[in-house]
Amino acid sequence: MNQPNQPNQPFQKSIFSKKEGEQTSDADKAATLPHKQTTNTSSKSENAYKDLKKKLHTKLLAELDTSKVNNDDVKTNEKVKNQIVNLIETLLTEEGVPLGLSDRKKLIEELIDDILGLGPIEPLLRDTAVNDILVNGPKKVYVERKGVLEKTDIIFDDETHLMRVIGRIVSNVGRRVDESSPMVDARLQDGSRVNAIVLPLSIDGAALSIRKFSEKKFILDDLIKFGAMTENMCEMLKLCVLCRLNIIVSGGTGSGKTTFLNALSRYIPNHERVVTIEDAAELQLQRDHVVRLETRPPNLEGKGEISQRDLVKNALRMRPERIILGEIRSGEALDLLQAMNTGHDGSMGTLHANTARDAFSRLETMCLMSGIELPQRAIREQIASAVNLICQLNRFSDGSRRVTQIAEVTGMENGIITTQDIFIFEQKGVDENGKVKGIFKPAGIRPVFSKKIEAMGYKLPPAMFNPT
Ligand SMILES: Nc1ncnc2c1ncn2[C@@H]1O[C@H](COP(=O)(O)OP(=O)(O)OP(=O)(O)O)[C@@H](O)[C@H]1O
Ligand SMILES: [Mg+2]
Repeated sequence: MNQPNQPNQPFQKSIFSKKEGEQTSDADKAATLPHKQTTNTSSKSENAYKDLKKKLHTKLLAELDTSKVNNDDVKTNEKVKNQIVNLIETLLTEEGVPLGLSDRKKLIEELIDDILGLGPIEPLLRDTAVNDILVNGPKKVYVERKGVLEKTDIIFDDETHLMRVIGRIVSNVGRRVDESSPMVDARLQDGSRVNAIVLPLSIDGAALSIRKFSEKKFILDDLIKFGAMTENMCEMLKLCVLCRLNIIVSGGTGSGKTTFLNALSRYIPNHERVVTIEDAAELQLQRDHVVRLETRPPNLEGKGEISQRDLVKNALRMRPERIILGEIRSGEALDLLQAMNTGHDGSMGTLHANTARDAFSRLETMCLMSGIELPQRAIREQIASAVNLICQLNRFSDGSRRVTQIAEVTGMENGIITTQDIFIFEQKGVDENGKVKGIFKPAGIRPVFSKKIEAMGYKLPPAMFNPT
């Protein structure tokens, strides 16, 4: 295929398009958009389009230096992109298939996305309004926009197409996905978090979940603007971080825990040394002096795993002033509590729980997962003396996220950890547009930790705790 490029034939009638002046039916529209769901009437032209695309794709791969294609720099390299466009044009001419301008443009875009990017979901990755991309098998792609999940009309050609895209993602981080290794965590070049789980574990086809990396680093003031908390809560939280309270951020999936933790970290004084530990590095701590550690999964022989526990233990040898655990999932909970109790105050971590009370049960269970046999009472004592503050986050039906409870741990009574609320969010139904209504209420008490804050020369403004 070393022929020179043939000129485009833009005025040729497309086999996929209507005659000029003819009305375009919905089915035709769908036929020109091969990633979209179509009706039966359009399936013939859709298949023809698919076949052509497949043929060109195979030819393109054969023509291109694939090692170059796997290089992510290629994505931004306009020169390579132009070369591929020229190659597609030449192949199209060779095929001699009449193709209208819009189909030609669409086909080129899709092939470029397939060759250089992540195929049909590439436009979603470019769409800054999309937070999450959730693929349930080749024919169902959902996104989360402004906190609300919606189904898109994007589809993959088939399971093989989806697997090719997943394969590209995971091979970029030196991993593979197949029947023998059917679950994998990975990251896109831009830092987006990816999980893929494939057949036979995912019964109806491979499932791909992408939490997109947010370019925008939210600060606590942004969260006030979003209505996630009040200024009073924010002022108190800033002092709590500055004055080295140990903080647990609790919430359900996608409730904003990582965003909140990032925003809190801004108030850690710059001279302090922070070590972060995560399964998939997501935290973007807004500071200079930080060492980021990430776990390593076991290799194909099941060896070489480095767990969060290993990393917490290692972190303690790195002279950290604070340790931040992106997500406490298991036995590392005990190591974190011990670290909090032994001079690394100001440490923080997030965990999945639906209420602050649940968060304690989760912590307790996770401590037991460490394999160190401790009586329940001893674990509770560790929790009670280590944790100062629990911030509970919730995601509401309208997609909004809020800090729904800030509680401080006050001690132990009769073997039970005692807490007192400092702020709570009281929901007052929803308005006519389905938006959640409610108020943030200070409990009106002076927290026990205010002594620590005062000892460090700061003061919580008393007005902050006036009940409204
Ligand atoms: N207060 C907020 N208001 C609106 N959007 C928010 C808010 N906090 C976070 N988000 C957005 O919600 C999405 C999920 O946030 P984040 O990753 O922080 O949640 P998470 O609780 O850590 O999720 P996971 O449980 O999956 O780790 C992100 O796209 C983020 O930008
Ligand atoms: Mg998170």
